[in-house]
Parts: sequence; structure tokens; C-alpha cells
Amino acid sequence: MTTPKFQRGTLNTFQPPEHISKVSQALRSVGRKVALVPTMGALHDGHRELLRRAKRLPNTVVAASIFVNPLQFGEGEDFEAYPRQLEADLAALSEAGVELAFTPKASDMFDENAAVTLNPGPLGDELEGAVRPGHFSGMLTIVAKLLNVVRPDYAFFGEKDYQQLVLIKRMVADLNIDTRIIGLPTVRERDGLALSSRNVYLTPEQREDAVVLSAALSAGAHVGRDGAAAVLEMARQTLAARPQVEVDYLELRGTDLGPAPVDGEARLLVAARVGSTRLIDNAGVLLGKAVEHPSGDPDAGE
Ligand code: PAF
Repeated sequence: MTTPKFQRGTLNTFQPPEHISKVSQALRSVGRKVALVPTMGALHDGHRELLRRAKRLPNTVVAASIFVNPLQFGEGEDFEAYPRQLEADLAALSEAGVELAFTPKASDMFDENAAVTLNPGPLGDELEGAVRPGHFSGMLTIVAKLLNVVRPDYAFFGEKDYQQLVLIKRMVADLNIDTRIIGLPTVRERDGLALSSRNVYLTPEQREDAVVLSAALSAGAHVGRDGAAAVLEMARQTLAARPQVEVDYLELRGTDLGPAPVDGEARLLVAARVGSTRLIDNAGVLLGKAVEHPSGDPDAGE
């Protein structure tokens, strides 16, 4: 197959995986780097921030994929309803200076005889995985396929889906995939609500209720000095002020989602239903002595 045409400085859209593979390979063979931002479309400012940061890398062509991955939606989830707006998304990519868009069809990504999927290990059954069985296997399978097709030097993901980010980093390390994974902080509305493609489902009243998730995380993080129990209690009390928000889980973990340390960096994670919309959020928390010594060195400055 000859290499499909690639025009610099403009958005080049490819549907067949072999076309973007060829173009990416050709770019890398002349010394360019490729950065991939995988998405399911319905692009918002959180995605724009990932694209903006990818664009800052020197000598790098930015690629974005748009694919609503059926494998990561469970029964009764919102696969059919998930917002799809390809034209608007391509316009947003073009405006962001993205040069490669990959918009595969489901039949391009999944051979009907495909039998192998990825197993995320025990973490895949915890937190989101406990509520959404099979979600992380489906997510990792498609991310592995995207990385294999595009072979990017870098791939960007938001910390909003923190467990996803941790699992993708594990996958890349465990399977020796030659892509550097870059996680970026969650982009928020002015009142703290984490940007999500699912926010469009919220009514104005639910939108107000939803702010309690980020408020609970901030309130919890604020008392990190007093330890894990205090953090969880403060977050729980904050959530309780909006009883119409049904909490699935509120957990404090280590940054790798193992057990939280007594002193050090941790992650506070929450998932809740607001009406019929399920939202997740998370925040970094410094615990115990780490609040005075964020460098991790309790002797620093003494
Ligand atoms: O975060 C998402 O949008 C999706 O989970 C991803 C990484 C594009 C895989 O389908």
C-alpha cells in the first residue's frame, strides 16, 4: 500500500487503521514525533487542554482518535445515548491545530472473530470496575489497539478518569508498549464541576447538585493533615448535604490506587448518581506529615 497523502498544517482525517498507521510510520521515519489524544468524541475543554499540551511538544504531530468504544459500555449503560457529534468534533480538532484525526468504524476496530481481550488484573474489579464489570478490560483493549495502530511516542489522558490512567500506565509498563503516557489534571468549571461529556445529561437542578462531588473532594483534601479518617469523614459530610446525590463509592487510596499511606500523597475518589447520570471525580490529597513536608522529606528545612 502506498502511503496515504498527509498535508502539513491542516487536519488529515483517516478512517481505515492501516492508513493512519502508514502516515504515522512515515512521519516517524523522517524524525517527527507523534502524540495521540484518544477520545470518544463530544469534545470539551478538558480534551482541548490535552490537545493544547500535546501541541507544545517540539517536533511533534498531534493525532486524535474519535471512537465510541462499545467494549467499555456495560448492559444498561449509555452506549446508544452517548453524545455523537463528529462534524463539530472534527472542527474542534482543526481549530486546535491537530493534524491527524483517526475516526475508525466499529468494524475497522473489531474483527468479528476476535477472541482476545486484555485483563486489567485485580484493580479492574475495584472502584469503577466493581460497578461496571468488564469496563476496564474493554477500555484497555481499545487503548492497546489505538496505540498499536498509531504507534505514538506520547499519549495524553486526563486525570478525571484516574483509575483508567493508572491502568493504562500499568498496561504500557507491563506489556512493554513503547509510548510515554502523560496524565494531565482535570479541567473544571468555575464552580469546581469536573468537565465530562456526560454533563450534558444533567438538568439545571442536577447540575447544581453535581457540584457537591468536587466540593466534597476539596473539603476532604483540606483536612489531610488530620489523616485518612478525617478526610473521608469531611468528604462524607459534605456529600450528605445533597441527599439526592446517590454515592456509589468514596475512597481514599494511594496514588497507584493501592492502600493510602499514613503520611504522603493519596487520591480521594468519588462516584455518584445524579438523577440517572453517573459522575466520577477525584483529587490529590496530602496526608499527615506530608502536609508540612510535601517533598516527602520530613527533615527538609529543619
Ligand atoms: O477516556 C475516554 O474517552 C476513553 O475511555 C478512551 C481512553 C478514549 C478509550 O475508549
